[in-house]
Amino acid sequence: MGFRDKFRNADHALTFNDVLLLPGWTVIEPSEADVGSQATKKVMLNVPFISSPMDTVTESEMAIALARHGGLGVLHRNCTAEEEVDMARAVKRAEALVIRDVVTVKANATIDNLLGLMEEHNIHGFPVVDDGESIIGIVTWRDFRLADRNLKVSDVMTKEVITAGENISLEEAKSILHKHRIEKLPIVDDTNRVTGLITMKDITLKGTYPDAVRDEMGRLICAAAISPFDLERAMELDEYVDIIFTDVAHFHNKNCFDAAKKLLDSVTAEVVVGNIGTYQAAEDCLTKLDGVAGLRVGIGSGSICSTSVVTRAGAPTLYAVSQVADAVEEYGSDVSIIADGGIRNPGDIAVALAVGASCAMMGNVFAGTSESPGRLVALEGRYYKEYYGMGSAAARKKRYAQDRYSQPSKTITEGVEGWVPYRGGVAEIVSEFVGGLKASMGYVGARTIPEMHEKARLALVTEQGAKELTPHDIMLPGPKRGQ
Ligand code: XMP
Repeated sequence: MGFRDKFRNADHALTFNDVLLLPGWTVIEPSEADVGSQATKKVMLNVPFISSPMDTVTESEMAIALARHGGLGVLHRNCTAEEEVDMARAVKRAEALVIRDVVTVKANATIDNLLGLMEEHNIHGFPVVDDGESIIGIVTWRDFRLADRNLKVSDVMTKEVITAGENISLEEAKSILHKHRIEKLPIVDDTNRVTGLITMKDITLKGTYPDAVRDEMGRLICAAAISPFDLERAMELDEYVDIIFTDVAHFHNKNCFDAAKKLLDSVTAEVVVGNIGTYQAAEDCLTKLDGVAGLRVGIGSGSICSTSVVTRAGAPTLYAVSQVADAVEEYGSDVSIIADGGIRNPGDIAVALAVGASCAMMGNVFAGTSESPGRLVALEGRYYKEYYGMGSAAARKKRYAQDRYSQPSKTITEGVEGWVPYRGGVAEIVSEFVGGLKASMGYVGARTIPEMHEKARLALVTEQGAKELTPHDIMLPGPKRGQ
């Protein structure tokens, strides 16, 4: 191939702004559309939205909120392994049919110790156990909130504790909690050792969040990011999370593949690999890595990415998804395809679905919510939240995610730092995006996401056309999102 052929054979790396969904014959109303989709081979989400593993986007609060509203949060890795495990534990403890990771105390602990545990784990009641771990009482916030800090647990605990056996049903548990007007019911084995805890709060939450995505134990689904080279962290997280995401900018790399093979052999959680951006990369993931559950797709489209500016390398998310989706289809694989980067509106998600995505990962959109960890700042009368790329100087200062980018020099940054408008709670964003996505599906005539893959047709838009297709020739009040 001559050098000139590189132009002749150049691909059209289309982006969200380059395309439109063509309206199709429809027999459904938008409200009838079902937006449930696969996050991985095993995990089905009720809304196809995933928050990015970034330290200004996803910590436990975001992961809990998104899972409760039917999506998924991927915990970031720009912290110690211990901190990431703590975040995962918090997600898993947020609700459960039966809490298995029960924190117990000894009778000779002080109230001061209890207050410390309460703060550390964000829980308000503890079964009290003897040295053989058998239950001898229970102590709750009500018993100790006004007590002298030097008193012992044995001074304030309730000794006649009501317990239940392993086989108790949810209905039976509810009736015991109600009958005795108690909030917590420890589950014990034949030797009276605590094996679980049922709480009134969890039972109530189950009714409050009907769309929540839960595991078979009633706990919220949780995912976490890791470096593919940090097997130790992956194995620590494996105890708590359902899904592990490798978190590197360019996964199609021999060292990453070698490390991922070890990872796949070592963990029981499902593994999503990425980021990738080409047919070839997807083909290699499918043929060389046994057991991958999903592909995270898109390089350089992120709102905070400067990768393509600095390196002129990238695979825009929409283009990348179409490449990967063809490989997945041709290999008859059932891995999920997660479109990651550059998504601002529900319509962007709709076109990503049109070219084969299963779900959309968003950083910018979720960074602006109350549940993101970024700082809230007031600028010229408006509220904003801090948001920065994982390749930016701010993220790299924390060191833990530096190997996301394999760079020859520390002075190269691949991300920028700034603020995004504050948007309120995750619940509102999810509902706004579900509404928008269903409207797109209504135009296409697709009742489900697999029908989007099948039926959606695209048209290309010129730069001039793009102007006509956004509000124009009118003075708008204030900045409008997505423009
Ligand atoms: P959005 O557009 O939702 O994109 O803000 C979030 C995604 O961008 C990726 N990411 C980066 N890419 N430099 C990059 O080239 C960075 O500093 C950076 N930080 C995050 C990541 O895939 C994320 O989900």
